[in-house]
Amino acid sequence: MKRRIGILTSGGDCPGLNCVIRAVVSHAIQTYDWEVVGIPYATQGLLERKTVPLSIHSWNLHGIDPLLNMGGTILGTINRGDTLAHADEILSGYEAIAIDALIAIGGDGSLNIIHQLAVLGNWHLVAIPKTIDNDVAFTERSIGFDTAVNTIVDAINRLTFTAASHDRVMIIEVMGRTAGHLALYSGIAGGADVILIPEVPYSIQGICNHLGELRHGWQRQFAIIVVSEGISVSAEDTDSASSCMINKCGKGQYIAEKIANCSNHLIDTRVSVLGHIQRGGIPSALDRLTATMFGKVAVDLIAQEQYDRMLAWQNGKVVTFPIEDVINHNPSLVDPHGDLIQTAQCLGIYIGEDILVKKSK
Ligand code: F6P
Repeated sequence: MKRRIGILTSGGDCPGLNCVIRAVVSHAIQTYDWEVVGIPYATQGLLERKTVPLSIHSWNLHGIDPLLNMGGTILGTINRGDTLAHADEILSGYEAIAIDALIAIGGDGSLNIIHQLAVLGNWHLVAIPKTIDNDVAFTERSIGFDTAVNTIVDAINRLTFTAASHDRVMIIEVMGRTAGHLALYSGIAGGADVILIPEVPYSIQGICNHLGELRHGWQRQFAIIVVSEGISVSAEDTDSASSCMINKCGKGQYIAEKIANCSNHLIDTRVSVLGHIQRGGIPSALDRLTATMFGKVAVDLIAQEQYDRMLAWQNGKVVTFPIEDVINHNPSLVDPHGDLIQTAQCLGIYIGEDILVKKSK
């Protein structure tokens, strides 16, 4: 039976989404001879009953296929919270566009919403995890994470030279919502001296002591601090008169102010908020590979009529899980007792207060 399948991208964009679209279209058309349509702007496209035809050569530019290395999503995306208020219109839209199955590429929030719609409408849904936050349960990596880590490491490399030249403490605020994966991976890979993530409590005094040790003990006059946007106010901070309360001026600025205070303004700090730069750029080879394999397996799942499942990367393989199980385990946070945290500590990185793993000699 010739099938007509739909594909959409939902939630915040990230590099690698177009690679999934490319793999789905190529495999569905070349292997199965199906029709593939894109649904623009996720559930908004369903609501408006819009589709765009996708074919293998439709985007070729002089024989070059740009989807492999183009960031963002050619389908557009939305990350609004009011989608379920329009459930009826979206469900009728899904019926109207007459697709046999839907591949949805989304993160934690989007998968939850689309799964609820799929249950209501009896959709044939296959989900693919994407998010630079890497906080989707059961998958070791979600599309976009590796590229974002590389982008941050590149920024740390650049900041390190200017930090060293001026004997400054550079604070780099990175995304990740409630999860510290982005900060942890990039901080270790970039050679940070301090990494602050939401999952591990820290103290301002601990950071200041560490900076003092670097300066006086190791003659290292500069430092790199990676701060996750999701950290809380330090437990010992009772300074309600702070000119920079944490939710108003950003976490990086908050830490900078505290370091200035604890060093009697002797330490010169600068803050870089990387922001949406982390969501842009050319997808890394690893993201392209993951995206391509996810796209291929998603099409195969539809051929096998296995629905309501999300693809995941585990131990070098693509495996699948019921979407509902994934949602029940989201978000997937950093394990404070995991290998990466221990590795960071063994390298002398300050990462928090209560989890020091110093071995007795
Ligand atoms: O979930 C991805 C993410 O980039 C987070 O890391 C960040 O907090 C958020 O999205 C930013 O969302 P928006 O693009 O709506 O500003």
